[in-house]
Amino acid sequence: MKIAVLTGGGDCPGLNAAIRAIAKSAWAEGDEVHGILEGWAGLAKRKSILLSHKKISGLLTLGGTILGTARINPLKSEKSIQAAEKYFREQKFDALLSIGGEGTLQIAAEFYRRGMPVICIPKTIDNDTWGTDYSIGFDTAVQIATEAIDRLHTTAESHQRVMIVEVMGRHAGWIALYSGIAGGADAILIPEKVFPIIRLCDIVKARAKRGRKFSIFVVSEDAKIELEGKKILETPSTRDEYGDIKLGGIGEALATELRRRSNSEVRVTVLGHVQRGGTPTAFDRILATRLGVKAVELARKKDFGKLVVLSGNEIQTLPIQKSAGKVKQVDAELQKVAEVFFG
Ligand code: F6P
Repeated sequence: MKIAVLTGGGDCPGLNAAIRAIAKSAWAEGDEVHGILEGWAGLAKRKSILLSHKKISGLLTLGGTILGTARINPLKSEKSIQAAEKYFREQKFDALLSIGGEGTLQIAAEFYRRGMPVICIPKTIDNDTWGTDYSIGFDTAVQIATEAIDRLHTTAESHQRVMIVEVMGRHAGWIALYSGIAGGADAILIPEKVFPIIRLCDIVKARAKRGRKFSIFVVSEDAKIELEGKKILETPSTRDEYGDIKLGGIGEALATELRRRSNSEVRVTVLGHVQRGGTPTAFDRILATRLGVKAVELARKKDFGKLVVLSGNEIQTLPIQKSAGKVKQVDAELQKVAEVFFG
C-alpha cells in the first residue's frame, strides 16, 4: 500500500510520535508512507515527501510536526478541493491518515464523502474532539499548565497577590479544569458554566479571613464571567489570518474588573503557545502510538471513513461523521469535583 499522512490545524506534542507509529507499522508489512506537507493545503499544493528511517529517527520525543501544518481549509474553494483530489489520484495513494482536531475532521469528512479513503486520528490540546476520551497533546498541555500553577503558588503567597492564569481550550474548559484541579486552583472559570465575578471577590475575602492572603484563579480563554446585571465580560474579538475567531485576553480583562472590586494586587499569566510546545508526556506518546498503529490496521482492512478513538483504555473506532461538527464539552461531574475546592 501507499499510505499518505498529514497533520492539520494547530500543532501539539505527540504528532511526531503518531507519524513514527504509522511509518513503523506500515513498514512492518512492506507498505510505503508519504508525508503530505503543510496539512490539507499540501495536497492541493502537491507537496509530499517519502518517509524513510532517517526521517523518522528521534521522532518519539520531538514536539511539533515534521510535516508542518496549517489552518487553511481547502473546502473554501472547489478549485483546491479538485486539485487535492487530483494529486491524491495521481500519486496513487491507497489511504490518507489525517491527524487533526475538529476543523481537520470536518475537512476529512467532506473528502471522504467525495470518495477519498480517509482515516482520522484525534489530536488537540483542547481535548474537545467528540467521541474520544483523550486526544493527542492534551495531557502534555495539562502538565505544562499544572507546573505553571504550582510555580505561581509560591510567588502569589510571598506577595499576597491574586494570580490569574489564562489557559487555552477554545470553547471547552478541559485544560482549565484538569490543570486547575491538579494545581489546587481556588476557582476555575470555563466556557461551559457562567461564573459570577462577585463569587471570585467572595473567595478572595473568605481566604484572607482564614489567613490565606493570596488566590489562584485559572481562566479558560473562552470562559463566561458574569458581571453585575447579568452582563458577560467581553474580550476583544479578533480574527486570525484564516478568518477564525482568535481567543485570548480574558485574563487581563478579568484582572481589570477584579482590581475595581477588591483591594488585592492582581497579576496575570497567559500561558499561550507554551502549552503546545516541547516534548510529549509518556501518556501522549503512548496514545499517539496506539492510535497510529490502529489507523494503519484500519487502512489495511480498507475500513475507511473512521476516527480512531480512546474509549476507557481501549482503542476503538467510530464513523467520522458522528464526531465532525461536534464539540466535546467538560462533563458536569468533573465540574462538581472542581467546585469542592473553590475558595
Ligand atoms: O486548538 C488549539 C489552540 O491552541 C486553541 O486552544 C487556541 O485557541 C488556538 O489553537 C490558537 O490558535 P493559533 O495557534 O492559530 O494562535
